[in-house]
Amino acid sequence: MEEIINAIKKSSIQIEEKVRRSALDGFQGNVNTDTINSSGDVQKKLDIITNEIMIDNLIKTKCCSILLSEENEEAIIIEDKEFRGNYMVAFDPLDGSSNIDCNVCIGTIFSIYKETDSKETDSKETDSSNLEKEILRNGSNIICAGYIIYGPATEMVITIEEKPGVQKYTLDTDKKEYIYTGEIDITNKTKQIYSINESNCENWFQDTKEYIDLYKRPNTKYTQRYIGSMVADVHRTLLYGGMFSYPADTKNKNGKLRVIYECFPIAKIMEKAGGAAIIGNFSRNRILDINPTEIHQRTPILIGKKEEIIKYIKSTRNILLNNCYKNNSNTNDDIYDLYENFEN
Ligand code: AHG
Ligand code: MN
Ligand code: MN
Repeated sequence: MEEIINAIKKSSIQIEEKVRRSALDGFQGNVNTDTINSSGDVQKKLDIITNEIMIDNLIKTKCCSILLSEENEEAIIIEDKEFRGNYMVAFDPLDGSSNIDCNVCIGTIFSIYKETDSKETDSKETDSSNLEKEILRNGSNIICAGYIIYGPATEMVITIEEKPGVQKYTLDTDKKEYIYTGEIDITNKTKQIYSINESNCENWFQDTKEYIDLYKRPNTKYTQRYIGSMVADVHRTLLYGGMFSYPADTKNKNGKLRVIYECFPIAKIMEKAGGAAIIGNFSRNRILDINPTEIHQRTPILIGKKEEIIKYIKSTRNILLNNCYKNNSNTNDDIYDLYENFEN
């Protein structure tokens, strides 16, 4: 795992340089308007370059068997015995596409899994059911998760399963090495910030509408911040406090963000930093408990300080209770069941 982390660090140092020099070296803009990635987004030149950097460095470790990237339709299976190891790495090489060309914070998100298969590396089969079993595991199998934020400083935030807490490292660009710059603990952060793309509010479901309204009541002291790069919005939430959400709505029925390489690693970090990460949209289930059925699956997400998540749960419970009351819960099993599940 250490070698994989080193390869990710090395990649991020290369990516940092590409990002910093993108306007000078002609790396801004789209590849071309009809190149879209697995999620249907138009690919930027930097999406492709950063993906290649990650893949190249990870393969060279000889420790990986599967690489799952936002930019590749299919998982990359390392068949060559000389390079094959037994770890899976899932990553979003560049997060924050809308901010790439305007010099606003963007990031790289990653998570590492150890293969479940105990067979000898040599005899490992790559048949599709085996593969699916390896890739579509829930977030509790992550042994290391992290992100790198490319901002005024480049910082790596990382958590390792067997170690407590979340650690932050800042890149010394002169020495090209990361220096430890402290633990991240969200529980003692007190800034009152809510972070959500409010331009979607007309399409929100009732739970999101009522919850976000709580932050805008006359006597509350909350302010809104929304960068539009999840890495940056989450980084601020971890260091200042508050919440971040990308809910499902009437247009995006499954939300926008991807389960395996975006939400799982961020949820892992949030929980290890003392916060909470749930699905929202009438579900209080943990993000990490999702059992994905597709590589590029999306999910609604609500994360932040536990106090903020409790606010959502209480406000949504009231909606469900009112609905039960209005509809007479005894004759409306669906709503009653929903409320029961939500309570637990
Ligand atoms: P990506 O650049 O990897 O496709 O991800 C962009 C994501 C995420 O970073 C951010 O939270 C969200 O898109 C912003 O979406 P909106 O522009 O719809 O708010
Ligand atoms: Mn992303
Ligand atoms: Mn991306």
